[in-house]
Amino acid sequence: MSSYLPPPGTSDIFADEIPRWNFIESSAQKVFSLYGYGEIRTPIFEYSEVFKKSIGQDTEVVQKEMYSFEDRGGRELTLRPEGTAGVMRALMKTEAPNGVETRVYYLGPMFRGERPAAGRKRQFHQVGVENVGKISPEHDAECITMLIHFLEELKITGSKLLINTRGAEEDKAASEKALRDYFQNFVPSMCPDCKERFNKNIWRILDCKIQECQEPIKNAPDVKEFFTQTSKDYFNKVVDLLRQQGIEFEIDRRLVRGLDYYQHTVFEITHSGLGGQNAIAGGGRYAIAVPGSSKYITGVGFAAGMERLIMVQDALKVQLPINTPEFVFIASLGQVAKEKNFLLASELRKKGINVLMELEDKSMKAQMRSASKSNVTKVLIRGDDEIARNVIILKDMKTGNQTEVAYSEIINSLKQV
Ligand code: HAM
Repeated sequence: MSSYLPPPGTSDIFADEIPRWNFIESSAQKVFSLYGYGEIRTPIFEYSEVFKKSIGQDTEVVQKEMYSFEDRGGRELTLRPEGTAGVMRALMKTEAPNGVETRVYYLGPMFRGERPAAGRKRQFHQVGVENVGKISPEHDAECITMLIHFLEELKITGSKLLINTRGAEEDKAASEKALRDYFQNFVPSMCPDCKERFNKNIWRILDCKIQECQEPIKNAPDVKEFFTQTSKDYFNKVVDLLRQQGIEFEIDRRLVRGLDYYQHTVFEITHSGLGGQNAIAGGGRYAIAVPGSSKYITGVGFAAGMERLIMVQDALKVQLPINTPEFVFIASLGQVAKEKNFLLASELRKKGINVLMELEDKSMKAQMRSASKSNVTKVLIRGDDEIARNVIILKDMKTGNQTEVAYSEIINSLKQV
């Protein structure tokens, strides 16, 4: 450790920023509960297998980005790079096999060892949802609708919804063959990652951003053409339900998403206010294998990056309906008054009043200076004389008016002014 800076790609979040985080969290709670979702909290680390099996061995997240370690008991553990795998692990042990619908949302830190950049962090925060157990285009469309609703609640305008389908398990062979047949002539001139993807994860070639790969990708076949009619109908229905609601979107045949568990609908929300890392949310339908059985559990969900949501709100200069708390400041003249005021402060706080007071011995002038710096609307002043007469001075900081009130009337007076 060379300084007191946090490790690269991580940040401290200070009190003045917290209201914005709270706003996102409370908006998530508000919107998702309208759709019947309840919160789930799963561990921040899991057995590494949980991620390897769900996300896929050949994905970039598993290959290059996981924070994995062995604990003192020799267990192979990983800090969660995303929420879906852990949530599915948790639901599998409870009552959520296929057929029983479970709706959950989660919030919290995720960890990926990516190269830090604006909007790309090693510890970032996601708010995510999973609707597990049932499969229908209506579920997918409702999930996307809820994401749009959430962004509206956050006052994020100007985002773009991209949508595509990865088809079902039975569509894989034909569509991968079509991609392989097409790309085999181009692969020698493509980037090293695409060369690897050609053998391991051919769909991901479509997602490559490297310049030399763009020309072949542009003319690649649309894999949807190779899907069964059932899968095509499924996707068309999702798209139709979005259209009926007036939700704007773009079908992006290059959108494949970076995690292997996806099947059928995939989607992403991008925003031009973000620069390079322009995805604010992503998700889709997935199928995850139940360990030790041949069964899969399906679900549909998404996650949004909280740092990126805040960046977009900043770019849009969104005014949030955040109430900054107002304070009463108690100023003391003399030691006896200070001790009594210390007790008064506790009493008022227990009645729900925000109170600040100078705990060190400071002159009245210094105390009033502190009172004018903070978000203080009223000041209570008490010295020996006020104690003897059982009164207190109440100063309204907005008008400058000063009145004397009976000690027993403090609470009423604070409420009135
Ligand atoms: P994801 O696309 O990997 O999907 O991540 C979702 C969102 O998390 C991204 O759109 C982005 O806003 C944010 N994010 C990802 N990586 C970073 C990073 N390094 N720094 C800052 N923000 C980042 C998933 O994680 C899936 N589990 C979503 C899902 C849920 N699919 C189905 N259910």
